[in-house]
Amino acid sequence: MFTPYYRMRRLRKNPQIRNMVRETIVTPNDFIYPLFVIPGKDKINPISSMPGNAQMSIDHLVKEAKIVRDLGIQSVILFGIPEHKDACGSDATSENGIICRALVALKKAVPELYLITDACFCEYTDHGHCGPKGNEVDNDATLELLQKQVVVQAKSGADMVAPSGMMDGMVGAIREGLDNEGFENIPIMSYAKFASGFYGPFREEAAESTPQFGDRSSYQMDPANGNEAIRETALDVEEGADIIMVKPAMPYLDILQRIKNEFGLPTAAYQVSGEFAMIKAAAERGWLDHDRVMLESLTSIKRAGADLILTYFCKRSG
Ligand code: PBG
Repeated sequence: MFTPYYRMRRLRKNPQIRNMVRETIVTPNDFIYPLFVIPGKDKINPISSMPGNAQMSIDHLVKEAKIVRDLGIQSVILFGIPEHKDACGSDATSENGIICRALVALKKAVPELYLITDACFCEYTDHGHCGPKGNEVDNDATLELLQKQVVVQAKSGADMVAPSGMMDGMVGAIREGLDNEGFENIPIMSYAKFASGFYGPFREEAAESTPQFGDRSSYQMDPANGNEAIRETALDVEEGADIIMVKPAMPYLDILQRIKNEFGLPTAAYQVSGEFAMIKAAAERGWLDHDRVMLESLTSIKRAGADLILTYFCKRSG
């Protein structure tokens, strides 16, 4: 009989030793919870493809924020769906826009919650693209609007801004815009974002931001490209990004690990709506053990290099 010299199973023998040698532990400190805010009063629209999540008017958003805080989650990222959409997404640059009103209300009611905003236009434009559009999304015109957007967000109480539009120069433009208005202490979390089918539930139901024509492939990255993600991130870091976010998360763990290793910056990963929906749907059918798979997915994202995880599982509802 062959007797192995090395026995890895010694440290797997029982829960005590497994607990002692565990390398990766997910805690509420890692989480950022995405929330969707809509105009009006006393409105909750459940998002059917993202069980447990809903679009909420500001009054309910505030209640939700308190629940989230009481669960030990420190931070939320806000997405706004405006009353009126137009060609250049003007609600997003208005101090009376949906996000600014939400920020003011949240800062007042739950001051200890760290507020992150999405700096992008796809929820606000009537064509659903991430900036004003002629034949293509106009990159440099979008930068000017982004500068306005982040300044009104900062004035309304945003603690951090997260540009997700994948425009060239967006981090530099936003840094300049914030600094010029005295917001040099607001960090920027920039995206390494892929043109992914996993955003389906978010676009269709949560943010109502599906492009009315074409797709986002002329600004979001090709899922096939890893080196491009490194180059994109290098530019963001040079322009002043404080945190890099990889999105989606699970199908891009290789990218996450490369970015973490290459730059050593605090790195976030967004477990997006489609990743969440897949697990929920399979668990609903009894095909997967919900809590087990949830925790395994979050642990693998952290193990691959994420310091922060944006996830719809924060409350473990549904
Ligand atoms: C765009 C944005 C998207 C998501 C977050 N910000 C969608 C897109 O690029 O179409 C998707 C997040 C998710 O799927 O959970 N501002």
